[in-house]
Amino acid sequence: MNQLFTPVEIKNITVKNRIAVPPMVVYTWSDDTGHVTQKHIDHYEAIAKGGAGLIIQEGTCVNKNGRLADTQLGIWEDVQVEGLKKITDAVHRHKTPILVEIHHAGVAGIAENVVCPSDYECMIKGQLKKGRELTIEELHAIQQDFIMAVRRAYLAGYDGVEIHACHSYLISQFLNRRVNRRDDRYGQKPELFALEIIREIRKQTPSDFIIGMRLGGFEPTLEDAIAYARIFEESGVDFLDISYGFVQESTPVVPKDYPFKDIIYAAQKIKEAVSIPVFAVNGINSPELADKILEQTKVDMVDIGRGTLVNYNWANDAKEGRDVGTCLYCKTCMWRVDPTKCPGRLKHQYNLHR
Ligand SMILES: Cc1cc2nc3c(=O)[nH]c(=O)nc-3n(C[C@H](O)[C@H](O)[C@H](O)COP(=O)(O)O)c2cc1C
Ligand code: SF4
Repeated sequence: MNQLFTPVEIKNITVKNRIAVPPMVVYTWSDDTGHVTQKHIDHYEAIAKGGAGLIIQEGTCVNKNGRLADTQLGIWEDVQVEGLKKITDAVHRHKTPILVEIHHAGVAGIAENVVCPSDYECMIKGQLKKGRELTIEELHAIQQDFIMAVRRAYLAGYDGVEIHACHSYLISQFLNRRVNRRDDRYGQKPELFALEIIREIRKQTPSDFIIGMRLGGFEPTLEDAIAYARIFEESGVDFLDISYGFVQESTPVVPKDYPFKDIIYAAQKIKEAVSIPVFAVNGINSPELADKILEQTKVDMVDIGRGTLVNYNWANDAKEGRDVGTCLYCKTCMWRVDPTKCPGRLKHQYNLHR
């Protein structure tokens, strides 16, 4: 491995290797309160022990009405801080930095009256969603929810936050001009909703608190994403983690012979356009592929998501040249199934004890 186990600077933190564990919700452990359980604490501690350089905690909701599931973890009220702090304490015991992804689902949520930057209908996971346009008062109230969530994240001991601005959720809906057709300034300048949040959280947190962003690489086009990346870099964002944007409304264009996934191409192109660290993600299923992506695209970090669900020890095993396990891409983890039932994990454990 030439690059995977070299350190990298993210703001003031030296991250020991190039492996980030990206946010992955687990819906089976909490309940309607959105509170942390012992299972969450053990899960994140096990991931930290497994050797990844950086952990980004699962999408944690800033507002109960913005939830994706009625058991999603929450950061919408002060009483949630105590549980969240138990996660950061457990992870920090292993000298691993941890950020929390702050999230609002917008039209993709489970609330009865889902909201969106403008009236918008779409099918999400087989369900028709009819989003009602946010009033300006509601829009400002949600910005405030993000800001308060970041204050709580700071109090809970996170090293920073990752703003969830992709995967068809609320900020992705603002950024994608095919979804955001508002005729006020939040439509004329689609990045304004997020920019105002970033400016305020910069003011309200110490200068070493990390503010990262998970940004859509085609929102709706790569050119738009590159323009947003430059704007957010200028606004003080510390890193960009590039994933898919509003999927139904995006146009991925990638050279035919490109050796990696389309979304990794977007990360590569964004890296060429900015100076802050850029993370690439999706389907990076072996240490060799991870290293090749780092070398050939010049991105700074790779996200190992499902690989970590299969094997908490992915990073340590990769470093020592051991079998890291294989994700079977069965999607079981997407359907509210406890990660301990992951078929790839069971297979890996069986192989280890054979
Ligand atoms: C079970 C599961 C839950 C996920 N939850 C989130 C989430 O909360 N926030 C997010 O930005 N992405 C989420 N994702 C996407 C992952 O962060 C990652 O981008 C995706 O799994 C691709 O990376 P991989 O191929 O390494 O798994 C989730 C993915 C899975 C499999
Ligand atoms: S093996 Fe299946 S359940 Fe396990 S991480 Fe991969 S897709 Fe998810």
